[in-house]
Amino acid sequence: MSLAATNDTKRFEDVEQRIVRRDFRSLYKEDLPTPSMVVDLDIFEKNLHTMADHCRKTGINLRGHVKVHKSPDIAKRQIALGSIGVTCATIAECELMAQSGIKGVLLTRQPASKNNIVRAIALAKREPTFATVVDDAQMAEWLQDAAAERGVKLRTAVDIYAGLTRHGSEAGKPALEIAKKVNSSKNLSLIGFMGYSGTASHTHGWNERTKKSLEDTAGLLETVALAKKAGLPVEIVTGGSTGTYNIDSGRNGMTELQAGSFVFMDTAYRKIGAKSDPSVYSDFGPALTVLTTVISKRHPQQCTIDAGNKALLRPTDEVKGRPEVKVENQGAEYGILTWEAGVRDYKLGDRVDLYPSNLDMSTNVYDRYYVVRGEQVVDVWPIMGRSGAAQR
Ligand SMILES: Cc1ncc(COP(=O)(O)O)c(C=O)c1O
Repeated sequence: MSLAATNDTKRFEDVEQRIVRRDFRSLYKEDLPTPSMVVDLDIFEKNLHTMADHCRKTGINLRGHVKVHKSPDIAKRQIALGSIGVTCATIAECELMAQSGIKGVLLTRQPASKNNIVRAIALAKREPTFATVVDDAQMAEWLQDAAAERGVKLRTAVDIYAGLTRHGSEAGKPALEIAKKVNSSKNLSLIGFMGYSGTASHTHGWNERTKKSLEDTAGLLETVALAKKAGLPVEIVTGGSTGTYNIDSGRNGMTELQAGSFVFMDTAYRKIGAKSDPSVYSDFGPALTVLTTVISKRHPQQCTIDAGNKALLRPTDEVKGRPEVKVENQGAEYGILTWEAGVRDYKLGDRVDLYPSNLDMSTNVYDRYYVVRGEQVVDVWPIMGRSGAAQR
């Protein structure tokens, strides 16, 4: 590799300035520092269209989860294709999305601290389409008091246990009691129910996944029926994931999906198997890679890349086009790739694309997506909802 041969070393010096100017004309993957997150725009757009078409055909809404991508740019693209809003894991994500002009933001865990209660109410005042979930009557009381103080009406759904013990009221009568409490609270408006079946989402095999999802969400749908019978308003019944999108949408009663990972996919999701193909979950394509550089090649069948613990490199990550290559990390800024004898070697300076294994975590340690078509960079999207102090 001779830099002189490029006859244009300056292009490597002013990458940042060109990005600030949004002048992408001569910006290529080759120009980028590593490790970097790279979005393949064609695959990404296809994923968005696949989900949007599915929702249109099956008559279910999408309120996609943003915890995976943390990007208003991506949320807006989904809204443009018909999504009715976004779901968020933290109040900070909700604030970020609402501030970016997105309506229909739903917080999928309780805003239980005083800090979060005040911010949830303030957000509802600024953006009346904002909604939260509760899984406890106490939470409904706290929100009612705070909402009354600010003269706000807060859209509130009841979260029901659907397989993950971390959140959600017991289904049936206990959840119904909470719903009644919300409904009779002057400053809360009951909008419906949520049940996120997080254990079904990554269940391997279509039949097993379907069975698990049906089991996990049965209590949710029973409670919805009870609520309707009791004359409570049920505008939304929300849940589901990338793994169960085409299971939940066939369910009588679910009105919307919260799937998030499908925009990019990761190696964990690729392994769960599709309805039509048990070996790979190919409904959505792998749109996100981590671009790395081989920084040392001193040992046979092994090289070192510049992504390690800080880049959240994991042994479950996969090298694009070389699934047989083993990945391990060897420190904050070092990763090791190893391979069997007799296959193609990597050379010093080579660029290596990796598929990450856990999107939520990986996207949390980068601050931008480089968006590419082929080798050409065509856009840069900031990753804004990461878990720094200002994003808590
Ligand atoms: C409450 C909730 N809903 C929806 C999702 C989206 O799931 P996925 O990214 O698997 O599509 C998650 C992800 O963890 C979640 O926590």
